[in-house]
Amino acid sequence: MLLVHGGDIVDSGPREGGMVWREEMIGLDIEEICVNPDDRYRFEQEIEEKGSVRDFEVKFRRKDGTQMDCLLTATLRRANHGSIIEKQGFIRDMTDIKRLEAQLRQVQKMEAVGRIAAGVAHEINNPLTTILTTAMLMQEDIDPDDPNFQELETISSETLRCRKIVTSLLDFARQTESDREEHHINDIVIASMHLTQKKAEFKDIAVTHDLSEDIPIIGVNKNQILQCLINLALNAIEATDPGGRIIVTTRFFPVDEVIEIAMSDTGKGITKDETDKIFEPFFTTQKGGTGLGLPITRGIIEQHGGTIDVKSKLGQGTTFTIRLPINKRHNDTKDE
Ligand SMILES: Nc1ncnc2c1ncn2[C@@H]1O[C@H](COP(=O)(O)OP(=O)(O)O)[C@@H](O)[C@H]1O
Ligand SMILES: [Mg+2]
Repeated sequence: MLLVHGGDIVDSGPREGGMVWREEMIGLDIEEICVNPDDRYRFEQEIEEKGSVRDFEVKFRRKDGTQMDCLLTATLRRANHGSIIEKQGFIRDMTDIKRLEAQLRQVQKMEAVGRIAAGVAHEINNPLTTILTTAMLMQEDIDPDDPNFQELETISSETLRCRKIVTSLLDFARQTESDREEHHINDIVIASMHLTQKKAEFKDIAVTHDLSEDIPIIGVNKNQILQCLINLALNAIEATDPGGRIIVTTRFFPVDEVIEIAMSDTGKGITKDETDKIFEPFFTTQKGGTGLGLPITRGIIEQHGGTIDVKSKLGQGTTFTIRLPINKRHNDTKDE
């Protein structure tokens, strides 16, 4: 319960079911904590007109300066002669719910992309192969000095690029089928390092590892996890200048029963703005990039019940951290 006297909040009830906590609110002037002054004006107008408001959307600023999305339900008490005595009501903090809704939208978006990907990718792959082989056949009949030769080269390389996108989309769509077996995470890390080694050497980037010996086996889809690690490694190589370093570490946290795989690079880093976008499909800053590596990676990790997050310092480097819960029950049933 929130008691507003004049413009000051003089009391507010316990925090239950998103109800705003009293310490966060007491003594604050509504006018001051309204992030948009316009909201307060609309609130005053509506409550004085109708005598009450229900689920009025408003952004408040907490004492610590952070913002919260709130719903305000309040009524007006008037004296007999009509003057306003006080406004009473509830403020519900909807910040967490709003964040969950945003996450849900993101998941739905990914599902939609997956569905479209599966359909479109199959249809497009065959004609792309036809275009590619036709262009190559034509090139065989043409002198390399002929100006058309170069044009055909462009057709081939651009078609190849399309095929790359389609392949990524298919990988993305395939995320649903997930056969899990027990693996040592370190083995998968080593395999991913072998597969990306040449690329790193070519750019004169040193890739090292620091793998914990005490990691229990875990039920995962090896190819999918491998794909995640390759995606991260290729991004790291791409973002790092010659002479730079990449290090992969693995750790086990027995209390949380979580395995952590971290990939750090000394590359160019990611801006704050970009950090919010890199897991979205098709976001890329790379020439010829598809922007699907990280969304696919996140999809796979989340399917394994894990999380992936990123920490980055612009100009200094980036660390992606994957956390995978060791699926106890899965292991147990396998042992029987
Ligand atoms: N280690 C990294 N360092 C700096 N930027 C990165 C790193 N990893 C990913 N990024 C950024 O995230 C973007 C999206 O990556 P990704 O989804 O793999 O798509 P792509 O590699 O095709 O661009 C990259 O274009 C890059 O801007
Ligand atoms: Mg990538």
